[in-house]
Amino acid sequence: MISWERSINIKSPVEIEIMREAGRINAEALSAAVSLVEPGVTTQALNSAFEKVQKKYKVYSPFKDYPGPYPYPASICTSVNEELVHGIPSNRKLVEGDIVSIDCGTVYQGFVGDMSVTVPVGNVSQLTGRLIAVTRKALDIAISKMEIGHTTGDVGHAVQTYVEGEGFYITRTYTGHGVGRKMHEGPQVPNYGKPGRGMQLREGMTIALEPMVLVGTSSTTVKADEWTVASADGSLTAHFEHTVVVTANGPEILTLI
Ligand code: MF3
Ligand code: CO
Repeated sequence: MISWERSINIKSPVEIEIMREAGRINAEALSAAVSLVEPGVTTQALNSAFEKVQKKYKVYSPFKDYPGPYPYPASICTSVNEELVHGIPSNRKLVEGDIVSIDCGTVYQGFVGDMSVTVPVGNVSQLTGRLIAVTRKALDIAISKMEIGHTTGDVGHAVQTYVEGEGFYITRTYTGHGVGRKMHEGPQVPNYGKPGRGMQLREGMTIALEPMVLVGTSSTTVKADEWTVASADGSLTAHFEHTVVVTANGPEILTLI
């Protein structure tokens, strides 16, 4: 479904500077969408708010027209409750107690920033709050492992150990990925794995880390719209993502305002 370009492209300092700006604009546009989240707002309105900021900077989303069962029809993905990733913005109104993951990308001077957050709509249950907190912390753990010489298996193992220790589940079907001139480059970075396995991380690698966490199962299903990925058992899910570069001084997040 998602077409993967597996080549790993090491970025120069100049390219990393461009990706820092792509990531910054992406984070600013995302925050415009996040600030609208409240009961009654439609997911399409979040897409519009995001696009408005992109227009201001004359940048665009790599999601729009991304190849799949049919070209992806929006600039962001909005995945509500049991929807894990790739939900399509629509006239669906968010209601109190929902959670919505907003996943978004920006192309600036030919380079991509890729980022996602999961946001509560009004007050949410204790379990829902814990799911969000665990998924957010899983991303921090992944980022902390982005050191030269570590492997993608080290990253995945750390995420899996933490998330499963909290009693939640990790999908095997969707993973983090290298990112650069293309939204999906190598290496693939699963949120599960064994220490020492996979690809070694090198200075100048830029990777979108994105733990996807499910409350009741690791199995997913694709909805009738052919894009939206949901938990197979209808249980809640959450997703956070940052674009990160491996440097001699450790990991640096590129998708910050
Ligand atoms: N940003 C998502 C990812 O991290 C994918 C977006 S799918 C698209 O891989 F079709 F919307 F582009
Ligand atoms: Co991504």
